[in-house]
Amino acid sequence: MSHWKSPKWPFVDALVARNRAVVLGPDSSGGVSAVRYVALTSPEKDLSGRIGDTMYVLLSCAISLDGYLDDTSGERLVLSNAADLDRVDAERAGVDAILVGAGTVRNDNPRLSVRSPARRAAREAAGKPATPLKVVLSNGDLPQDAAFRADGESLVTGGSVDEVLARLAARGVTRLMVEGGGRVLTAFLASGRVDELQLVIAPFFVGDRAAPRFVHDGRFRWHKDHRATLAAVEPIGNVVLHRYLLGESAVDGHWLAHAVALSRRCPPSTTAFSVGAVIVDAAGERIAWGFSRETDETVHAEESALAKLAADDPRLAGATIYSSMEPCSTRKSRPLSCTRLILDAGVRRVVFAYREPSTFVVGEGAEQLAAAGVTVVERPELVAEVREVNATQLAPPGR
Ligand SMILES: NC(=O)c1ccc[n+]([C@@H]2O[C@H](COP(=O)([O-])OP(=O)(O)OC[C@H]3O[C@@H](n4cnc5c(N)ncnc54)[C@H](OP(=O)(O)O)[C@@H]3O)[C@@H](O)[C@H]2O)c1
Repeated sequence: MSHWKSPKWPFVDALVARNRAVVLGPDSSGGVSAVRYVALTSPEKDLSGRIGDTMYVLLSCAISLDGYLDDTSGERLVLSNAADLDRVDAERAGVDAILVGAGTVRNDNPRLSVRSPARRAAREAAGKPATPLKVVLSNGDLPQDAAFRADGESLVTGGSVDEVLARLAARGVTRLMVEGGGRVLTAFLASGRVDELQLVIAPFFVGDRAAPRFVHDGRFRWHKDHRATLAAVEPIGNVVLHRYLLGESAVDGHWLAHAVALSRRCPPSTTAFSVGAVIVDAAGERIAWGFSRETDETVHAEESALAKLAADDPRLAGATIYSSMEPCSTRKSRPLSCTRLILDAGVRRVVFAYREPSTFVVGEGAEQLAAAGVTVVERPELVAEVREVNATQLAPPGR
């Protein structure tokens, strides 16, 4: 599915073909190079020899309305309900490893296993163990008869979050679920290596400051001026699941999917592509959006989104534009291309899904943006959907 038009970066083409996100930017000499990429599915060395951020780290926990993970009774406090516990079981079935701290093992003695026989069988049918690797962080002794040791493979380990992740990556873990408790959740959140937080809130108070809190004091990447991306809120019986995206790659995927969804709202055309665009500021807030032909017959998605903001809007400098298709660089219908409009607006980061095919004009938007110092991220995993939205325009002539 190669549609990379510049022979300058054959390695980029190869990465895109393997469904990797590619990040373009200026190199130190002012030229353009692919400076790094984020591998989405499996560990692989990047161009600088670094191991890419390949592991998806999911934090999952339940808290009371006053933010406690447990009470002080010494017995495990069940905050979730049956339906939510089943959801957690499904999440467990989808990971390679489940991680907790020694405090959780000593207090709760969890099995950390996939419980549903159907899910265990499905994992085995896929060539995986019935239940994921159980990882316990500890510096000390853990009971030999602890429940986590009973079913499947386990690992007791320690060290910094980065060291633990490197050790797990070396064992082939690409999706890790961290279930607690408070000290472990705090360490992972403070490390900045978490992609997603699934936080369930139960409708009652613990009301005891001696109880374990969800997070302890720490310096976190997410604060009032840099908010986590809320991807979903779902009531499950009397508890509520909040799904927050924390990792850049996960956040990019979320907003790009939103841009592709917007592209479905474009009035039909056989002479122009259907594109959606979203502008998100540095705080993680969507500040504008648009789609092709939204306000007139020739307006482009990025142009329509930018037109909703004042030219001197201070948020533009820290914003990212997400577009389902590479911004145009040449245009028959209007004097200014979307690439030019993005540069004039001072936006410094562009994420898109599909390289503009040369159906209507030859596009060099990605190259021009990167040459001007804009960080350009190509995320090919939504290409099939973008092609489906533009099936008419992309059909071979005469069909
Ligand atoms: N509501 C929920 O969803 C949920 C989920 C899980 C747990 N919990 C609750 O959370 C409470 C436990 O939380 P907690 O904060 O006390 O304990 P924790 O976070 O489960 O475990 C902390 C312990 O893990 C070990 N550890 C942590 N990081 C380590 C590292 N990098 N290297 C080596 N060892 C490391 C240390 O144990 P050593 O003593 O061995 O050094 C540390 O004392 C329990 O009450 C449990 O019920 C609630």
